[in-house]
This record gives sequence, structure tokens and C-alpha cells, in this order.
Amino acid sequence: MKNTPSKFGKTPHQPSLWTRADALKVRADDPTTTQPLVSANFPVLSDEVFIWDTMPLRDIDGNITSVDGWSVIFTLTADRHPNDPQYLDQNGNYDVIRDWNDRHGRAKMYYWFSRTGKDWKLGGRVMAEGVSPTVREWAGTPILLNEQGEVDLYYTAVTPGATIVKVRGRVVTTEHGVSLVGFEKVKPLFEADGKMYQTEAQNAFWGFRDPWPFRDPKDGKLYMLFEGNVAGERGSHKVGNAEIGDVPPGYEEVGNSRFQTACVGIAVARDEDGDDWEMLPPLLTAVGVNDQTERPHFVFQDGKYYLFTISHTFTYADGVTGPDGVYGFVADSLFGPYVPLNGSGLVLGNPSSQPFQTYSHCVMPNGLVTSFIDSVPTDDTGTQIRIGGTEAPTVGIKIKGQQTFVVAEYDYGYIPPMLDVTLK
Ligand code: FRU
Repeated sequence: MKNTPSKFGKTPHQPSLWTRADALKVRADDPTTTQPLVSANFPVLSDEVFIWDTMPLRDIDGNITSVDGWSVIFTLTADRHPNDPQYLDQNGNYDVIRDWNDRHGRAKMYYWFSRTGKDWKLGGRVMAEGVSPTVREWAGTPILLNEQGEVDLYYTAVTPGATIVKVRGRVVTTEHGVSLVGFEKVKPLFEADGKMYQTEAQNAFWGFRDPWPFRDPKDGKLYMLFEGNVAGERGSHKVGNAEIGDVPPGYEEVGNSRFQTACVGIAVARDEDGDDWEMLPPLLTAVGVNDQTERPHFVFQDGKYYLFTISHTFTYADGVTGPDGVYGFVADSLFGPYVPLNGSGLVLGNPSSQPFQTYSHCVMPNGLVTSFIDSVPTDDTGTQIRIGGTEAPTVGIKIKGQQTFVVAEYDYGYIPPMLDVTLK
């Protein structure tokens, strides 16, 4: 990758590498990095809608924030179609699996509120139909800006293209609930450039999404993480010694792993409002290892930068594998170098007996990890499944130096606030 000097005046950094050798250390079913089994008897948030990626309202420093005692979460959401002839199988039964698998194409941003940090009540759609410029409203981050209740929602406008955008609105509370107002004007921020981040023209399966803005606790500037793939035509990437890492004899063969090119992108704001951004080289690349490092986010703890990102079994390259779940890396400064947590990167994976039970984990600064239920087997063979589309039990992890440990399990969708803001 070419490191062109940034117009912003920063010295270009070298991306850290998640290597094939690191990934060889992934051990599924290690109890310290495995999510407890989710029971097939889980409750669902709603019979009307599926939800998946969950985005708790937070401040720019990453703290989960309630307003006037109300917790607020945003979710990617799609209608369930139990009575739609399009989703009936040959026997006339609702094909919930197909309905669920089609959800990405009709994803919309919804919000929910709660007094208890669980038992979420549906607030509704964040933006009215027609406000968002594309068909899909994909993941991002809602940021509470001030005591007036202003919120910047950063998200991904997808199909056509994939653009990181933001829309500003306001959260309004009463004794009875929460509403979101405004959210009427979507501002495009940036798209993949083809030089650092892969474009659709370079690869029809490119990923460019999931903005997560934050203020660097050390330099005080506004940055944003996002998911990308390393620029270049599909198939042109090289998996060399650096990407392979220190493998044992016999593990040098990389197969077709040049097709897996995930990276964690970063951009810096040129202004205080976060309206003008400059992309910088990726913080972390996974060329030859994995094709997706989704929803990247930070926990700042003990003066360190804990970088978390979610990934799948099916996006791993030839010769390496790991569970669906959240992976992590740690550095002493924002631009790295990053070292995989627990040696491998794996922080919280699904158990191999229920490989799709949860996904889209978000590690919060209090060590709580929220995710959604995808599907859980209902029989011993794993052929019968129950689709989730709802909040998973929250898991507690402890982060210690370069290691993490699963230490607790909480209620479904438990996302307690870390601070409360009284609106003026
Ligand atoms: C993660 C994810 C995100 C994307 C969304 C699309 O579950 O793939 O990266 O924004 O889901 O539905």
C-alpha cells in the first residue's frame, strides 16, 4: 500500500497486520473466549420486525449515555413478513429463514427506549421514508452531542454505492417515553477512494461501511473508524511473508487467500463538527486472513487503545478459520502497532455447537458486550433452527493487558447507561 502524506499534516502510519500466523492461534470453544450457549427459548423484542446490529446512544468519548433517565438504542431493522405470499414455502408455511436472510436489502434504522437498560420499547423509524438517499440504511453510530439533546447519527447509505453519511436530529423525552425529531437532511461524508480503500469498481464484493466516530483521548482530535477492504483490483493482492507471519514449517501455502482483504479504516475530521473528513491509511489489515472486519470500535482503557471488530467464519481465507464473533487488538497509541488480543485476536466467539447463535458484537467501555441472536438449533442434529432477529443475552468480559476473559452473563439486550445527561 502507498502511504501518501496526509494533507492534514499527520505522518502516515504503517497499518498493523493481522497475520495468518496470528489466526492459526484461534481456538474455538476456549471457555475464556466463547459466548455462553444461547437457549432456543429466547424471548423476541418484536413479532413485527427483525432487529440485528444494535447501536447504543453514546457520547463522543464512547460512554453509553441515557437522557433524562431514558436509555436509547438504534437498531438495523426490517419488517417480518409472516403473511406475505412471497415468503410462503411450497406447503404454505412462513419461510422465516428466507425472510431473515433477505433482510439486509431492506434494512432501516429504528430506535428503542427503556428505563431499565433492557425491556426495550419500539420508538419507530429514525428517518421518514425518502429521507435517506439509498435503499439500505446500514450500520453506524448515534452520538449525543450536547445537553440540548442534539444527536449526530453516522451511518452507511448503501445501494446504489456505499457512502458514509450523517444526519443530525434531536432526542426529546417525556415522562412516558422518547422521540427522535429532525433527522431530515442526510449529509454525504465520503466513499472509498480506490487508493487506500477498495471501490465497487475494483471488487463487486467490496465492503465500505460502519462509521464509528470518536475523540482520541490522547490528542483530543475527532476521528472515525470504519470497515473497508484494502484498495486494488480483486485478485491482485499479494500474500507475502509479512501477511503470512511466523508460521510453522508446512504452513507457508496460502491457497486463494489473496481474495480476502479486510481492513479497519480510519479518517480524521478537518473540522470540530465532523462535516469534513480525510481518509488515512488503514489502522489494521487482514490481507490473506479474512475478508471482513466489520463494525470496528474502540474501548479506551488503562491508557491503551483496544480495537474491536466483528468477523465471520465464512469470510476467513483458505487455511485459516475461526468462529463468528468479535476479535480485538491492542496498542499504546492510536496509530499502533496493534497486537492481537489473546495472541489470536479472538475475544468472544460462538460455540461450535451453535455457530450462528449471535453476531454483531459491540464491546462497551464497561466490559459489557451486546449482540443479536441470529439462529439457534432446536434439535441435536442442528438441522432445525429458530431464527432470532432479536437481542442476545449481554456478556461481560474483563480486559487485562493483552488478554480478555469471559466473566459474566446478563439479561437479553441489557445495555445499561454509563452516564445520564439531563436535557436543558
Ligand atoms: C454486520 C453488518 C454490517 C452492515 C450490516 C448490514 O452485521 O454486516 O457490517 O452495516 O450488517 O445489514
